[in-house]
Amino acid sequence: MRTVDELRAQVAAWRRQGLRIALVPTMGALHEGHLSLVELALGAADRVVVSIFVNPTQFGPEEDFATYPRSEAQDRAKLAALGAHLVFAPGEEEMFAPDFSTEVFVAGVSEGLCGASRPHFFAGVATIVAKLLNQCQPDIAVFGEKDYQQLLVIRRMVRDLDMPVDILAAPIVRDSDGLALSSRNAYLSAAERQIAPLLHRAIADMAQDVAEGRPMSEALEAARRRLEGAGFEVDYLEIRGAADLVPFEGEQPDRPARVFAAAWLGRTRLIDNVPVPTTGTESEGAA
Ligand code: PAJ
Repeated sequence: MRTVDELRAQVAAWRRQGLRIALVPTMGALHEGHLSLVELALGAADRVVVSIFVNPTQFGPEEDFATYPRSEAQDRAKLAALGAHLVFAPGEEEMFAPDFSTEVFVAGVSEGLCGASRPHFFAGVATIVAKLLNQCQPDIAVFGEKDYQQLLVIRRMVRDLDMPVDILAAPIVRDSDGLALSSRNAYLSAAERQIAPLLHRAIADMAQDVAEGRPMSEALEAARRRLEGAGFEVDYLEIRGAADLVPFEGEQPDRPARVFAAAWLGRTRLIDNVPVPTTGTESEGAA
């Protein structure tokens, strides 16, 4: 389906039948991470809409909008095999009137981390997700913890603007060597792909060290050295509150915490995050 009118007609028909509707927003180039969101949605609703739209407004002028992987035919086949009910793949002209002039900006949670190095990014995301939610009007929308800051930005927007939708979070899906699945992993050379899992290993070890009492500044420094030694260029590496992304004062987290990292490997920017375990012996739970 390409138009908002068609989407609305189908959703309205489902609603008349009393069905519960979930939306999974994506930019396509679907992998097992995306598909896990669809599976979660299928378990939580009667009808699942997956949107595929490579949103130009969340890419900076120097970023990879033009080269972002696009594979709509394969995406459709994967979604059909899984049992998703509708693919909404609008064109740019359907999403943006020529004189489009509205922006949703979520202060606080969208500043810092990815918001610092990509200042345009979260306004682009919040605006397009607000549009998709208004277009589809689902009961539920599903987002991955892979983009943890994005998840919190969406939750905050939905709360602040009284949008009538429940936001569900899905755990990060990783390759067997720990690398978080991402459409951008396709950019990695074979040699870079060998190094890439170190990002997860370094932050997972760091989270464990902090849980066992190592001062945060020391653990951060060690992880940074490890990543730079392997050839990463670190964009950010931080520990912040898991609920609000507020940084900690002092050397020990005093409330649930998460490690957040973004790093360049050659021309590919990778992001990842893990929880700081709440006891020294517990290891990360999410697969
Ligand atoms: P995209 O990068 O395509 O991701 C779509 C959804 O899949 C997001 O909620 C993301 O967190 C989730 N996801 C990606 N990789 C994952 C993984 N390895 N494990 C679990 N979930 C994963 O995020 C976007 O698109 C866009 O910003 C969007 C929300 C669609 C707005 O344009």
